[in-house]
Amino acid sequence: MKRLHGKNILLGITGGIAAYKSAELTRRLKDAGADVRVAMTRAATEFVTPLTFQALSGHPVHTELLDESSEAGMGHIELARWADAILIAPTSANFIAKLAQGRADDLLSTICLATEVPLAFAPAMNQAMWNDLATQANCKTLRQRGLFQFGPASGEQACGEIGEGRMMEVPELIDHLADCFEHGVLQAVNVMITAGPTYEPIDPVRFIGNRSSGRMGYALAEAAREAGASVTLISGPCHLATPDKVQRINVETAEQMHKAVFDHLKECNIFIAAAAVADYKPVDAKKQKIKKDNESLNLVLERNPDILSDVAHSKTRPFVVGFAAETENIEQNAQSKLQRKNLDMIAANFVGQTENNKQDIGFNSEYNALQVFWANGSSTLELTRKSVLARQLIQLITNHYQAHKKDEKNTA
Ligand code: C5P
Repeated sequence: MKRLHGKNILLGITGGIAAYKSAELTRRLKDAGADVRVAMTRAATEFVTPLTFQALSGHPVHTELLDESSEAGMGHIELARWADAILIAPTSANFIAKLAQGRADDLLSTICLATEVPLAFAPAMNQAMWNDLATQANCKTLRQRGLFQFGPASGEQACGEIGEGRMMEVPELIDHLADCFEHGVLQAVNVMITAGPTYEPIDPVRFIGNRSSGRMGYALAEAAREAGASVTLISGPCHLATPDKVQRINVETAEQMHKAVFDHLKECNIFIAAAAVADYKPVDAKKQKIKKDNESLNLVLERNPDILSDVAHSKTRPFVVGFAAETENIEQNAQSKLQRKNLDMIAANFVGQTENNKQDIGFNSEYNALQVFWANGSSTLELTRKSVLARQLIQLITNHYQAHKKDEKNTA
Protein backbone atom coordinates (compact mmCIF):
# COMPACT_ATOMS: atom_id res chain seq x y z
CA MET A 1 0.00 0.00 0.00
CA LYS A 2 1.25 3.50 -0.83
CA ARG A 3 1.06 5.09 2.61
CA LEU A 4 1.24 8.67 1.33
CA HIS A 5 -1.04 8.20 -1.65
CA GLY A 6 -2.41 11.54 -2.89
CA LYS A 7 -0.68 13.58 -0.20
CA ASN A 8 1.05 16.86 -1.00
CA ILE A 9 4.32 16.93 0.89
CA LEU A 10 6.46 20.01 1.09
CA LEU A 11 10.02 18.89 1.77
CA GLY A 12 12.09 21.61 3.44
CA ILE A 13 15.86 21.21 3.23
CA THR A 14 18.25 23.21 5.41
CA GLY A 15 22.03 23.46 5.37
CA GLY A 16 23.71 20.29 6.57
CA ILE A 17 25.72 17.48 5.06
CA ALA A 18 22.73 15.15 5.55
CA ALA A 19 21.06 17.12 2.72
CA TYR A 20 22.53 14.54 0.33
CA LYS A 21 20.13 12.00 1.89
CA SER A 22 17.18 14.26 1.01
CA ALA A 23 17.63 13.31 -2.64
CA GLU A 24 16.84 9.69 -1.74
CA LEU A 25 14.07 10.94 0.55
CA THR A 26 12.43 12.80 -2.35
CA ARG A 27 12.47 9.61 -4.46
CA ARG A 28 11.02 7.48 -1.67
CA LEU A 29 8.31 10.03 -0.83
CA LYS A 30 7.22 9.84 -4.46
CA ASP A 31 7.35 6.04 -4.35
CA ALA A 32 5.05 6.23 -1.32
CA GLY A 33 2.51 8.05 -3.51
CA ALA A 34 3.17 11.67 -2.48
CA ASP A 35 3.41 14.72 -4.70
CA VAL A 36 6.60 16.43 -3.50
CA ARG A 37 7.65 20.05 -3.75
CA VAL A 38 10.96 21.18 -2.36
CA ALA A 39 11.92 24.40 -0.58
CA MET A 40 15.61 24.90 0.26
CA THR A 41 17.42 27.40 2.42
CA ARG A 42 20.39 29.17 0.84
CA ALA A 43 22.82 27.08 2.92
CA ALA A 44 21.16 23.87 1.72
CA THR A 45 21.89 24.81 -1.91
CA GLU A 46 25.61 24.88 -1.00
CA PHE A 47 25.43 21.16 -0.25
CA VAL A 48 23.19 19.87 -3.06
CA THR A 49 21.97 21.77 -6.11
CA PRO A 50 18.30 22.66 -6.56
CA LEU A 51 18.54 21.02 -9.99
CA THR A 52 18.90 17.61 -8.31
CA PHE A 53 15.62 18.10 -6.46
CA GLN A 54 13.89 19.58 -9.48
CA ALA A 55 14.73 16.44 -11.45
CA LEU A 56 13.66 14.11 -8.64
CA SER A 57 10.45 15.90 -7.61
CA GLY A 58 9.38 16.95 -11.11
CA HIS A 59 8.70 20.51 -9.90
CA PRO A 60 10.75 23.70 -9.80
CA VAL A 61 12.54 24.08 -6.48
CA HIS A 62 11.70 27.05 -4.25
CA THR A 63 14.61 28.93 -2.71
CA GLU A 64 13.88 32.66 -2.57
CA LEU A 65 11.29 34.55 -0.56
CA LEU A 66 11.41 37.73 -2.60
CA ASP A 67 11.85 36.27 -6.04
CA GLU A 68 9.33 37.55 -8.56
CA SER A 69 9.36 34.53 -10.86
CA SER A 70 8.96 31.89 -8.13
CA GLU A 71 6.40 33.97 -6.23
CA ALA A 72 4.41 34.25 -9.46
CA GLY A 73 4.60 30.44 -9.97
CA MET A 74 3.60 29.38 -6.46
CA GLY A 75 4.18 31.95 -3.72
CA HIS A 76 4.99 31.15 -0.13
CA ILE A 77 1.39 31.40 1.07
CA GLU A 78 0.18 29.17 -1.75
CA LEU A 79 2.90 26.65 -0.95
CA ALA A 80 1.88 26.69 2.71
CA ARG A 81 -1.72 26.05 1.64
CA TRP A 82 -0.85 23.45 -1.00
CA ALA A 83 0.89 21.16 1.47
CA ASP A 84 -0.91 18.45 3.46
CA ALA A 85 2.20 18.21 5.62
CA ILE A 86 5.64 19.78 5.79
CA LEU A 87 8.72 17.72 6.51
CA ILE A 88 12.01 19.52 7.10
CA ALA A 89 14.87 17.09 6.64
CA PRO A 90 17.59 17.75 7.52
CA THR A 91 16.82 20.48 10.06
CA SER A 92 19.90 22.36 11.23
CA ALA A 93 20.37 23.68 14.78
CA ASN A 94 20.04 27.19 13.36
CA PHE A 95 16.73 26.41 11.65
CA ILE A 96 15.38 24.77 14.82
CA ALA A 97 16.25 27.99 16.69
CA LYS A 98 14.52 30.06 14.00
CA LEU A 99 11.38 27.92 14.22
CA ALA A 100 11.38 28.21 18.00
CA GLN A 101 11.59 32.00 17.73
CA GLY A 102 8.96 32.21 15.00
CA ARG A 103 11.28 34.04 12.59
CA ALA A 104 10.36 34.55 8.95
CA ASP A 105 13.52 35.79 7.27
CA ASP A 106 13.70 33.31 4.41
CA LEU A 107 11.27 31.32 2.29
CA LEU A 108 11.21 28.10 4.32
CA SER A 109 10.81 29.76 7.73
CA THR A 110 8.05 31.99 6.32
CA ILE A 111 6.18 28.97 4.97
CA CYS A 112 6.50 27.27 8.37
CA LEU A 113 5.00 30.30 10.08
CA ALA A 114 2.18 30.57 7.54
CA THR A 115 1.13 26.95 7.55
CA GLU A 116 -1.57 25.24 9.59
CA VAL A 117 -0.79 21.69 8.47
CA PRO A 118 1.25 19.13 10.46
CA LEU A 119 4.89 20.16 10.55
CA ALA A 120 7.64 17.62 11.15
CA PHE A 121 11.35 18.25 11.56
CA ALA A 122 14.26 15.82 11.44
CA PRO A 123 17.24 17.30 13.33
CA ALA A 124 20.67 16.58 11.89
CA MET A 125 23.83 18.05 13.38
CA ASN A 126 27.04 17.40 15.24
CA GLN A 127 26.46 15.62 18.57
CA ALA A 128 27.74 18.55 20.66
CA MET A 129 25.40 20.96 18.89
CA TRP A 130 22.56 18.51 19.42
CA ASN A 131 23.32 18.14 23.12
CA ASP A 132 23.65 21.86 23.65
CA LEU A 133 21.02 23.07 26.12
CA ALA A 134 19.80 25.76 23.73
CA THR A 135 19.05 23.19 21.01
CA GLN A 136 17.37 20.90 23.52
CA ALA A 137 15.22 23.73 24.86
CA ASN A 138 14.26 24.81 21.32
CA CYS A 139 13.22 21.26 20.40
CA LYS A 140 11.15 21.01 23.56
CA THR A 141 9.40 24.26 22.64
CA LEU A 142 8.61 22.95 19.18
CA ARG A 143 7.28 19.64 20.50
CA GLN A 144 5.09 21.50 22.98
CA ARG A 145 3.71 23.55 20.10
CA GLY A 146 2.65 20.32 18.43
CA LEU A 147 5.44 19.92 15.86
CA PHE A 148 6.55 16.36 15.23
CA GLN A 149 10.20 15.65 15.94
CA PHE A 150 11.64 12.71 13.98
CA GLY A 151 14.92 11.55 15.46
CA PRO A 152 17.78 12.22 15.53
CA ALA A 153 19.46 8.82 15.33
CA SER A 154 22.82 8.13 16.86
CA GLY A 155 25.98 6.63 15.40
CA GLU A 156 28.96 7.76 13.36
CA GLN A 157 28.73 11.35 12.14
CA ALA A 158 30.06 13.05 9.02
CA CYS A 159 32.42 15.08 11.24
CA GLY A 160 34.01 11.85 12.51
CA GLU A 161 32.46 12.00 15.98
CA ILE A 162 30.11 9.39 17.38
CA GLY A 163 26.87 10.26 19.13
CA GLU A 164 23.32 11.47 18.74
CA GLY A 165 22.58 13.90 15.92
CA ARG A 166 22.46 11.88 12.70
CA MET A 167 19.41 12.44 10.54
CA MET A 168 16.86 9.64 10.91
CA GLU A 169 17.09 7.14 8.03
CA VAL A 170 14.82 7.66 5.02
CA PRO A 171 12.46 4.64 5.45
CA GLU A 172 11.84 5.60 9.08
CA LEU A 173 11.18 9.23 8.14
CA ILE A 174 8.55 8.09 5.65
CA ASP A 175 6.96 5.74 8.19
CA HIS A 176 6.74 8.49 10.80
CA LEU A 177 5.31 10.96 8.29
CA ALA A 178 2.65 8.48 7.19
CA ASP A 179 1.74 7.92 10.86
CA CYS A 180 0.84 11.63 11.11
CA PHE A 181 -2.02 11.03 8.67
CA GLU A 182 -3.20 7.68 9.94
CA HIS A 183 -5.09 8.34 13.12
CA GLY A 184 -8.09 6.15 13.52
CA VAL A 185 -7.15 5.04 17.06
CA LEU A 186 -10.74 5.83 18.09
CA GLN A 187 -12.38 4.35 14.99
CA ALA A 188 -15.88 3.03 15.84
CA VAL A 189 -15.76 4.62 19.30
CA ASN A 190 -18.54 7.00 20.41
CA VAL A 191 -17.27 9.91 22.44
CA MET A 192 -19.55 12.36 24.22
CA ILE A 193 -18.11 15.65 25.45
CA THR A 194 -19.71 18.42 27.49
CA ALA A 195 -18.31 21.91 26.94
CA GLY A 196 -18.77 25.55 27.84
CA PRO A 197 -20.59 27.19 30.72
CA THR A 198 -24.20 26.78 31.79
CA TYR A 199 -26.57 29.68 32.28
CA GLU A 200 -28.95 29.40 35.23
CA PRO A 201 -31.85 31.85 34.85
CA ILE A 202 -32.68 34.35 37.57
CA ASP A 203 -35.42 35.98 35.51
CA PRO A 204 -36.10 36.19 31.73
CA VAL A 205 -33.05 38.46 31.13
CA ARG A 206 -30.55 37.57 33.85
CA PHE A 207 -28.65 34.45 34.66
CA ILE A 208 -25.83 33.00 36.76
CA GLY A 209 -22.99 31.99 34.45
CA ASN A 210 -19.20 31.67 34.45
CA ARG A 211 -16.14 32.57 32.39
CA SER A 212 -15.73 29.24 30.56
CA SER A 213 -15.10 29.84 26.84
CA GLY A 214 -15.75 26.23 25.81
CA ARG A 215 -12.37 26.11 24.00
CA MET A 216 -11.01 23.05 25.81
CA GLY A 217 -14.15 20.99 25.18
CA TYR A 218 -14.35 22.05 21.53
CA ALA A 219 -10.64 21.28 21.01
CA LEU A 220 -11.21 17.85 22.56
CA ALA A 221 -14.17 17.26 20.23
CA GLU A 222 -11.98 18.12 17.24
CA ALA A 223 -9.09 15.95 18.44
CA ALA A 224 -11.38 12.98 19.15
CA ARG A 225 -12.91 13.38 15.69
CA GLU A 226 -9.42 13.52 14.13
CA ALA A 227 -8.66 10.27 15.94
CA GLY A 228 -11.62 8.66 14.17
CA ALA A 229 -14.32 8.81 16.88
CA SER A 230 -18.00 9.67 16.38
CA VAL A 231 -18.35 12.73 18.55
CA THR A 232 -21.39 14.23 20.27
CA LEU A 233 -20.73 17.64 21.77
CA ILE A 234 -23.20 18.83 24.39
CA SER A 235 -22.50 22.53 24.49
CA GLY A 236 -23.47 25.31 26.85
CA PRO A 237 -23.74 28.84 25.39
CA CYS A 238 -20.53 29.83 23.59
CA HIS A 239 -19.46 31.46 20.36
CA LEU A 240 -17.22 28.79 18.88
CA ALA A 241 -17.71 27.16 15.50
CA THR A 242 -18.74 23.52 15.60
CA PRO A 243 -15.78 21.33 14.59
CA ASP A 244 -16.24 19.44 11.31
CA LYS A 245 -18.30 16.26 11.45
CA VAL A 246 -19.16 16.69 15.12
CA GLN A 247 -22.79 16.41 16.27
CA ARG A 248 -23.49 19.43 18.47
CA ILE A 249 -26.42 19.73 20.83
CA ASN A 250 -26.99 23.16 22.37
CA VAL A 251 -28.22 23.55 25.92
CA GLU A 252 -28.36 26.40 28.41
CA THR A 253 -28.90 25.08 31.90
CA ALA A 254 -27.31 22.26 33.88
CA GLU A 255 -30.67 20.45 33.93
CA GLN A 256 -30.85 20.59 30.13
CA MET A 257 -27.24 19.41 29.86
CA HIS A 258 -28.01 16.53 32.22
CA LYS A 259 -31.00 15.48 30.10
CA ALA A 260 -29.12 15.77 26.79
CA VAL A 261 -26.25 13.66 28.18
CA PHE A 262 -28.58 10.93 29.47
CA ASP A 263 -30.58 10.95 26.21
CA HIS A 264 -27.39 9.98 24.38
CA LEU A 265 -25.65 7.89 27.01
CA LYS A 266 -26.65 4.47 25.70
CA GLU A 267 -24.40 4.68 22.66
CA CYS A 268 -21.53 6.37 24.48
CA ASN A 269 -18.16 4.59 25.01
CA ILE A 270 -16.15 7.50 26.42
CA PHE A 271 -17.64 10.44 28.33
CA ILE A 272 -15.52 13.55 28.85
CA ALA A 273 -16.99 16.28 31.08
CA ALA A 274 -15.19 19.48 30.10
CA ALA A 275 -18.15 21.79 30.79
CA ALA A 276 -18.05 24.28 33.64
CA VAL A 277 -21.44 23.38 35.01
CA ALA A 278 -23.00 25.73 37.55
CA ASP A 279 -23.15 23.95 40.89
CA TYR A 280 -26.20 25.94 42.00
CA LYS A 281 -29.24 27.48 40.35
CA PRO A 282 -31.89 29.93 41.63
CA VAL A 283 -34.69 27.97 43.29
CA ASP A 284 -37.33 30.14 41.80
CA ALA A 285 -36.51 31.74 38.45
CA LYS A 286 -38.93 34.63 38.10
CA LYS A 287 -41.32 34.72 35.12
CA GLN A 288 -41.05 38.51 34.88
CA LYS A 289 -37.99 40.76 35.04
CA ILE A 290 -37.10 41.56 38.67
CA LYS A 291 -37.56 45.27 39.43
CA LYS A 292 -35.10 47.19 41.57
CA ASP A 293 -37.71 48.09 44.18
CA ASN A 294 -35.71 47.01 47.22
CA GLU A 295 -32.29 47.98 48.63
CA SER A 296 -31.18 44.36 48.69
CA LEU A 297 -32.19 41.18 46.99
CA ASN A 298 -31.79 37.65 48.26
CA LEU A 299 -31.43 34.84 45.80
CA VAL A 300 -32.00 31.37 47.17
CA LEU A 301 -29.96 28.76 45.30
CA GLU A 302 -30.24 25.00 45.16
CA ARG A 303 -27.84 22.31 43.99
CA ASN A 304 -27.79 21.32 40.35
CA PRO A 305 -27.43 17.67 39.43
CA ASP A 306 -23.79 16.55 39.11
CA ILE A 307 -23.80 15.28 35.54
CA LEU A 308 -20.34 13.74 35.71
CA SER A 309 -20.98 11.89 38.95
CA ASP A 310 -24.39 10.65 37.76
CA VAL A 311 -22.87 9.28 34.53
CA ALA A 312 -20.01 7.63 36.42
CA HIS A 313 -22.44 6.00 38.88
CA SER A 314 -24.89 4.88 36.20
CA LYS A 315 -25.43 1.16 35.67
CA THR A 316 -23.88 0.68 32.24
CA ARG A 317 -21.38 3.44 32.54
CA PRO A 318 -18.96 4.43 29.76
CA PHE A 319 -15.27 5.17 30.37
CA VAL A 320 -15.51 8.45 32.30
CA VAL A 321 -13.11 11.40 32.30
CA GLY A 322 -13.69 14.48 34.43
CA PHE A 323 -12.05 17.87 34.73
CA ALA A 324 -11.10 19.73 37.87
CA ALA A 325 -10.43 23.45 37.63
CA GLU A 326 -8.67 24.39 40.83
CA THR A 327 -7.19 27.51 42.35
CA GLU A 328 -5.27 25.59 45.08
CA ASN A 329 -4.25 22.06 46.19
CA ILE A 330 -4.65 20.71 42.67
CA GLU A 331 -3.50 17.16 43.30
CA GLN A 332 -5.38 16.64 46.55
CA ASN A 333 -8.65 18.00 45.14
CA ALA A 334 -8.32 16.08 41.89
CA GLN A 335 -7.57 12.78 43.65
CA SER A 336 -10.54 13.20 45.94
CA LYS A 337 -12.85 13.97 42.97
CA LEU A 338 -11.52 10.94 41.11
CA GLN A 339 -12.68 8.70 43.95
CA ARG A 340 -15.80 10.52 45.08
CA LYS A 341 -17.20 10.82 41.55
CA ASN A 342 -16.13 7.28 40.58
CA LEU A 343 -14.07 8.42 37.57
CA ASP A 344 -11.58 6.55 35.39
CA MET A 345 -9.45 9.66 34.84
CA ILE A 346 -9.41 13.29 35.86
CA ALA A 347 -7.63 16.19 34.18
CA ALA A 348 -6.81 18.92 36.66
CA ASN A 349 -5.76 22.43 35.84
CA PHE A 350 -4.79 25.48 37.76
CA VAL A 351 -7.05 28.43 37.00
CA GLY A 352 -5.30 31.79 36.91
CA GLN A 353 -1.79 32.89 35.97
CA THR A 354 1.26 30.66 35.72
CA GLU A 355 4.06 31.62 38.11
CA ASN A 356 6.84 31.87 35.53
CA ASN A 357 5.55 33.51 32.40
CA LYS A 358 2.42 35.19 33.67
CA GLN A 359 0.43 33.46 30.92
CA ASP A 360 -3.28 33.39 31.74
CA ILE A 361 -4.35 29.77 31.66
CA GLY A 362 -7.46 27.71 32.13
CA PHE A 363 -10.76 29.52 31.85
CA ASN A 364 -11.34 31.77 28.84
CA SER A 365 -7.76 31.39 27.64
CA GLU A 366 -6.07 29.88 24.53
CA TYR A 367 -3.60 28.09 26.79
CA ASN A 368 -3.75 25.39 29.39
CA ALA A 369 -1.62 22.88 31.24
CA LEU A 370 -2.98 19.71 32.80
CA GLN A 371 -2.13 17.16 35.41
CA VAL A 372 -3.98 13.96 34.64
CA PHE A 373 -4.68 11.38 37.36
CA TRP A 374 -6.02 7.85 37.29
CA ALA A 375 -6.29 5.09 39.91
CA ASN A 376 -2.58 4.34 40.16
CA GLY A 377 -0.73 6.95 38.19
CA SER A 378 -0.54 10.44 36.78
CA SER A 379 0.94 12.40 33.91
CA THR A 380 1.71 16.08 33.32
CA LEU A 381 0.81 17.78 30.05
CA GLU A 382 2.86 20.96 29.86
CA LEU A 383 1.52 24.45 29.15
CA THR A 384 0.58 24.82 25.49
CA ARG A 385 -2.28 25.81 23.17
CA LYS A 386 -5.53 24.05 24.00
CA SER A 387 -5.66 22.52 20.48
CA VAL A 388 -2.28 20.82 21.02
CA LEU A 389 -3.12 19.84 24.58
CA ALA A 390 -6.40 18.33 23.41
CA ARG A 391 -4.58 15.98 21.01
CA GLN A 392 -2.22 14.91 23.79
CA LEU A 393 -5.09 14.34 26.21
CA ILE A 394 -7.12 12.35 23.65
CA GLN A 395 -4.06 10.15 23.07
CA LEU A 396 -3.69 9.57 26.82
CA ILE A 397 -7.41 8.84 27.24
CA THR A 398 -7.27 6.45 24.27
CA ASN A 399 -4.37 4.49 25.81
CA HIS A 400 -6.24 4.10 29.10
CA TYR A 401 -9.57 3.33 27.42
CA GLN A 402 -7.96 0.57 25.37
CA ALA A 403 -6.20 -0.92 28.41
CA HIS A 404 -9.52 -0.77 30.31
CA LYS A 405 -11.31 -2.61 27.46
CA LYS A 406 -8.63 -5.30 27.49
CA ASP A 407 -9.01 -5.74 31.27
CA GLU A 408 -12.80 -6.01 30.88
CA LYS A 409 -12.38 -8.71 28.23
CA ASN A 410 -9.93 -10.67 30.39
CA THR A 411 -12.21 -10.63 33.43
CA ALA A 412 -15.38 -11.45 31.41
O1 C5P B 1 -16.96 19.12 41.57
P1 C5P B 1 -16.52 19.99 40.46
O2 C5P B 1 -17.58 20.87 39.93
O3 C5P B 1 -15.23 20.72 40.69
O4 C5P B 1 -16.13 18.93 39.27
C1 C5P B 1 -15.75 19.32 38.02
C2 C5P B 1 -16.08 18.25 37.01
O5 C5P B 1 -17.43 17.83 37.18
C3 C5P B 1 -16.01 18.74 35.59
O6 C5P B 1 -15.63 17.64 34.79
C4 C5P B 1 -17.43 19.18 35.29
O7 C5P B 1 -17.72 19.12 33.91
C5 C5P B 1 -18.23 18.17 36.07
N1 C5P B 1 -19.51 18.66 36.62
C6 C5P B 1 -20.70 18.16 36.13
N2 C5P B 1 -21.89 18.58 36.68
C7 C5P B 1 -21.90 19.48 37.67
C8 C5P B 1 -20.70 20.00 38.17
C9 C5P B 1 -19.52 19.59 37.63
O8 C5P B 1 -20.69 17.35 35.21
N3 C5P B 1 -23.05 19.87 38.16
